[in-house]
Amino acid sequence: MDKQAKKTALRGITYGLYLVGTKGEAGVNAFAGNFLTQTSFEPPLVTLAVKAGTRSQQEIAQSGVFSVNILESGQKDMVTAFFRSITQEDNQLAGYPFYLKETGCPIFEDALSFFECKVVEKVEKGDHFIYVGEVINAGVHREGDPLTMKETGFYYGG
Ligand SMILES: Cc1cc2nc3c(=O)[nH]c(=O)nc-3n(C[C@H](O)[C@H](O)[C@H](O)COP(=O)(O)O)c2cc1C
Repeated sequence: MDKQAKKTALRGITYGLYLVGTKGEAGVNAFAGNFLTQTSFEPPLVTLAVKAGTRSQQEIAQSGVFSVNILESGQKDMVTAFFRSITQEDNQLAGYPFYLKETGCPIFEDALSFFECKVVEKVEKGDHFIYVGEVINAGVHREGDPLTMKETGFYYGG
C-alpha cells in the first residue's frame, strides 16, 4: 500500500470535534475526540473510538456509559484544554462548569447540546477500542454551528 496515499485519503474523512464525558472511581473526566459517528436511527446509536489504555477508555469499559458534548464553532480553546489528562475541581473540569443527568457523565454548560449513551456493543481491538452507544438522553442549551475539525486545523487520523 502507498502509505502517503493512505494518509491523504483517510484525512479526507471529515469530522466534528467533541468533548466526551466519562465517570470512574476518581470522579468524572472528559476528553476531546473526533472518532465519533451516528450509526443507527432506531434505536439511535453512535459509534465512538477511544484510545486503548487511557483513563477515558478504561472508564467507559467499566461504567458502560459516556456523554457527548457538541461544542460551538469558535470553541477551539475549550476543546484544546481536553487533549491532556485533567482533574475534577468541584463542578468544573479544566475550568469549565458541568452538571450531571442520567448517566452521571459530565455535561458542559458551555456546549451547544449533548447526548448521553449506554454502551451496547464493543470491539476492543487495535489501538483504539470501539464502543457502540445507544442514545438514552439528549438536551439542547442553545442553537449554533457545531465546531468542526477543519476549523481547528487539527488532524487525528490518517
Ligand atoms: C485533534 C485530536 C483528536 C482526538 N481524537 C481522539 C479520539 O477520537 N479518541 C481518543 O481516544 N482520543 C482522541 N484524542 C486524544 C485525547 O484527546 C487524549 O488522549 C486525551 O488526553 C485522553 O484523555 P484521558 O487521558 O483523560 O483519557 C484526540 C486528540 C487530538 C489532538
